[in-house]
Amino acid sequence: MGTRPSLKLDQVALPLTVAKAANALAKRLEAGDADEELIHELADLGQLRQKDLDDHRTSGAVFTPYSVAQELVREVGIEAGDSVCDPSVGPGVFLLAAAEQKFRNGESVPSIINSLRGIDIDPLTVEVARTTLQLWAAWRGKQWLAIDQLIVGDGLLDVPSHWYGGCDVVIGNPPFLGQLKSETARDSMRAKALKERFGDLYTAYVDESMLFLLLGVELSSATGTVVLIVPASLLGSDSSRPAREWIDDKLPLKDLWVGGRSVFDVAAVEVVAPILQQRQDRNCRVIRYESQDTIEVPSATAGQWSRLLAAANGTPTVTLAADVTLRDQASVTADFRDAYYWLAERVEEADLEDSRPKLATVGLIDPFCFMHGAVDTRFAKQKFERPVIQIEDDPPPKFTKWLDQKLQPKLLVATQTRIVECYADTKGELLPSTPLLSVAPMEETQLWHLMAAVASPAASAWLASVAAGTGLSQATMRIRASLLADLPLPLPSESWDEGAYLARKMQEEQAYEDVSIRFGEVMNQAYDTASEELLSWWISRLQKKQA
Ligand SMILES: C[S@@+](CC[C@H](N)C(=O)[O-])C[C@H]1O[C@@H](n2cnc3c(N)ncnc32)[C@H](O)[C@@H]1O
Repeated sequence: MGTRPSLKLDQVALPLTVAKAANALAKRLEAGDADEELIHELADLGQLRQKDLDDHRTSGAVFTPYSVAQELVREVGIEAGDSVCDPSVGPGVFLLAAAEQKFRNGESVPSIINSLRGIDIDPLTVEVARTTLQLWAAWRGKQWLAIDQLIVGDGLLDVPSHWYGGCDVVIGNPPFLGQLKSETARDSMRAKALKERFGDLYTAYVDESMLFLLLGVELSSATGTVVLIVPASLLGSDSSRPAREWIDDKLPLKDLWVGGRSVFDVAAVEVVAPILQQRQDRNCRVIRYESQDTIEVPSATAGQWSRLLAAANGTPTVTLAADVTLRDQASVTADFRDAYYWLAERVEEADLEDSRPKLATVGLIDPFCFMHGAVDTRFAKQKFERPVIQIEDDPPPKFTKWLDQKLQPKLLVATQTRIVECYADTKGELLPSTPLLSVAPMEETQLWHLMAAVASPAASAWLASVAAGTGLSQATMRIRASLLADLPLPLPSESWDEGAYLARKMQEEQAYEDVSIRFGEVMNQAYDTASEELLSWWISRLQKKQA
């Protein structure tokens, strides 16, 4: 074309800060004063919109830095002619990066603009996306083009029917709206609409971003690719398991991009991007943000996406026969919130020679060790050295039953850890506070055997691979009661008997060095997981904890 475009910015429709910046860019384009840096200035229009938004937490509006969008666009290899859709398009940074890649691949600017689709619930942000792409087209193609396929609506409920099954690439960063916090939880009307829309794949606690991943699969063509940034906890969370299994059946997890915690300035969340595509080989790649190195790991089966992250984090792979699980020999329970408040009203500092039940918190449980009196603990906003619980003579009936259950011999298991941290309360004198888990054996004589199984290297590696990404950081796992109950147990053997003996020795004599190595070895024999790698992985984490 060669001529300078005549730019018709709709400044009234734009947020004020964006209108000013867009106007300045338009003037430079009209004057022919734009260099390769312009792409970043276009992307910055979205960041200006971000600053305008009062509270990004309620809408999940955390916009993606251009460098991240560019990396994912490169990763999926968007080609000339591909149709690209972002179902929560925001200010359009992914479409901008896709447009630029297609341009470099030789596609004409009108054809590129025609191939881009996006939807977002926020009209002002859609206008920012439209302006950004128009300015890009004016820069790269010297034309002011209409952008018809950016629409305002609910991505999960309002996508035009002709988009379904027709997108070569679905890419983006949907809102993370966790359902456990009141400010991001959906209301009942929306829950009902989503239940109707997604059927059994919808669960009450499923994060909104997982529903976008389901939508992505529906939008994708049979040979298409879906890549959406989601919180790492979705890789292993229970609420999104039905969705993961459905996805693996339709458009399986091919690779995993691991963004980590530093991708977004305003939200410190561990993020990943599952890359879904029909795969040819049995291996998946794990790609880390801004790293040239990729790790090849065996592909995950039926929704078990955490395994990929675990393998990339160096967790040894273990395969455990699941003929008998912990739930067959023990009751595994988490405590309810009311019990916390009940304990909070009765916690006191111990006297000398105190025989009242001791309070156990996650901070007091270390591997084979209860740190009561050795370290301070905070509970109910107070600091205690030796917290005990003053129980009245006649506790309310609800708590009488709870106390009967809890003041029994049991294992206490911490829930946010790198390896399992567990302690055997042989006398039944500890009262656990949430989120500690209790494992009460059906046969009291089995306590040390169950301790040996739960504390074994195999159990730690198994739980880490099933729950990788669900903890507060990539390196920790969050152990849920239902997951721990699924832990396979070894078959009865002399090795397991010796493991039980050594677990007891470690706890009672606080004997570690050689004993822990021998414990790891015999439990590896009991589980049939004998491997140097597993043993040294577990020992190094145990030693870090004890240091
Ligand atoms: C995390 S931001 C990401 C935006 C953009 N994809 C990016 O990466 O910069 C999520 C976007 O989703 C939008 N949003 C929230 N709920 C939505 C819904 N139900 N349908 C479509 N968009 C939605 C928000 O307005 C916000 O722009």
